[in-house]
Amino acid sequence: MNPFEYAPALESTSIVTIADRYKLFINGKFVAPRSGKYFPTINPATGKKLSEIAEANSADVDLAVKAAREAYVKVWSKLSAAERGKYLFRIARILQERAREFAVLETLDNGKPIRESRDTDIPLVAAHFFYHAGWADKLKYAGLGDAPKPHGVVGQIIPWNFPMLMLAWKVAPALATGNTVVLKPAETTSLTALLFAEVCQQAGLPNGVVNIVTGAGATGAALVNHPGIDKIAFTGSTDVGKLIATSIAGTKKNATLELGGKAANIIYDDAAIDEAVEGIVNGIFFNQGHVCCAGSRLLVQENVQDEVLAKLKVRMSHIRLGNPLDKNTDIGAINSAAQLAKIKELSAAGEAEGAERWSPPCDLPPAGFWFAPTIFTGVSQTHRIAREEIFGPVLSVLTFRTPQEAIEKANNTPYGLSAGIWSEKGSKILWTASKLRAGVIWANTFNKFDPASPFGGYKESGWGREGGRYGLTAYLKVGK
Ligand code: NAI
Ligand code: MG
Repeated sequence: MNPFEYAPALESTSIVTIADRYKLFINGKFVAPRSGKYFPTINPATGKKLSEIAEANSADVDLAVKAAREAYVKVWSKLSAAERGKYLFRIARILQERAREFAVLETLDNGKPIRESRDTDIPLVAAHFFYHAGWADKLKYAGLGDAPKPHGVVGQIIPWNFPMLMLAWKVAPALATGNTVVLKPAETTSLTALLFAEVCQQAGLPNGVVNIVTGAGATGAALVNHPGIDKIAFTGSTDVGKLIATSIAGTKKNATLELGGKAANIIYDDAAIDEAVEGIVNGIFFNQGHVCCAGSRLLVQENVQDEVLAKLKVRMSHIRLGNPLDKNTDIGAINSAAQLAKIKELSAAGEAEGAERWSPPCDLPPAGFWFAPTIFTGVSQTHRIAREEIFGPVLSVLTFRTPQEAIEKANNTPYGLSAGIWSEKGSKILWTASKLRAGVIWANTFNKFDPASPFGGYKESGWGREGGRYGLTAYLKVGK
């Protein structure tokens, strides 16, 4: 036994109370689903069932949309903007007060390390509500017209990788701009959204302003296709994004889509290599790599490849994988059996297509879903692992000789969500950034988020932006 081994530092779960069963949140109340159906949600770190979640069918979705419409017409659209803002401030403060409860519940249901849910996800959730609370009564100064109007009832569908954070990205701007909401969380991670429903009650938010319908793809499709929805906001896979775009074509529904990515993280030979290695690790191993803007394609200048890879392997050998509730854990559980199967399948394809696979020695826990941090070297542009979103802790390493080659390779993807540039020269960073087709570009850092900064993609990474002044436009009838 290594005498310097970390002792376990488990976060207590006593702060959360998980019910045996969860109903739908419609018109300010928890109501049993018309469908009569429930499905299990599990802790992916143990494989054990945490609770049962209601599966909303189209009748349930209809009730939720009608509640949102009534709340919009009778209450929410009649409130002054300053009053609306007060509710958002109240929600933000309650989220801060209950932050530890949310962090522990998120970690239990999602599998992400408590270090991340506690220090990244939930603080950013509160920040998004505070930021948008401030906008509520200042919209006429946003440069979007004298009195920009909301769409009305917004349908929102979110993924499982950042369950509460994606809820905040969706709900906070929608309410601040005066819309009401029907939100569908992802089927593997509904619990924090249902706890958020309690926060809405606690804040005294008028009934029907936020409605939460749980369920899988069919529930999402019922929401997308409901004629009472004025706008759809979706974050998830590009495949489902395309489906949604197809099904709302020819309707008056507005849409914002935040889809997949295959970001290039470019390391020039003049970069501070130790810092870049930290950025590479943060870029691909944060949240088990379940990140749409993950730096999943490393582009290293050829003359520093050996140094970067040697240091990266040493650094990866110190990553701790295991119980997400342990405060020392860096990599938690893969969110679902289906996602683990996808990561395994793409990694096997990487080997079959001739790339070289490497992982540090790493004991995987016996139960639950786990995948060791992995890098592939000798990857070429045509390999599936260089083109497809793996959405796991798997890095594909490619090399380049000239800045022009780096840009061509970086842009050679159907996606365009994010990118990273590492160099000591500001002029080189700006020149590179101006040529990259990516919505968010980090320089000498990676995976930094702020509610004031817009986020979104080019090409198949989606439509529209979320966050910042620009993100408000998605929830307002701008220029109409
Ligand atoms: P998904 O796109 O199926 O799920 C995202 C959300 O859409 C969930 O709430 C789901 O219930 C809902 N949904 C599914 N089918 C729908 C439909 N026909 N109409 C309306 N809503 C629908 O993503 P999934 O299957 O969980 O993950 C598959 C892959 O997608 C991942 O391996 C990853 O590559 C990518 N992904 C990307 C995300 C991102 O943030 N860009 C987030 C989640 C997944
Ligand atoms: Mg779960």
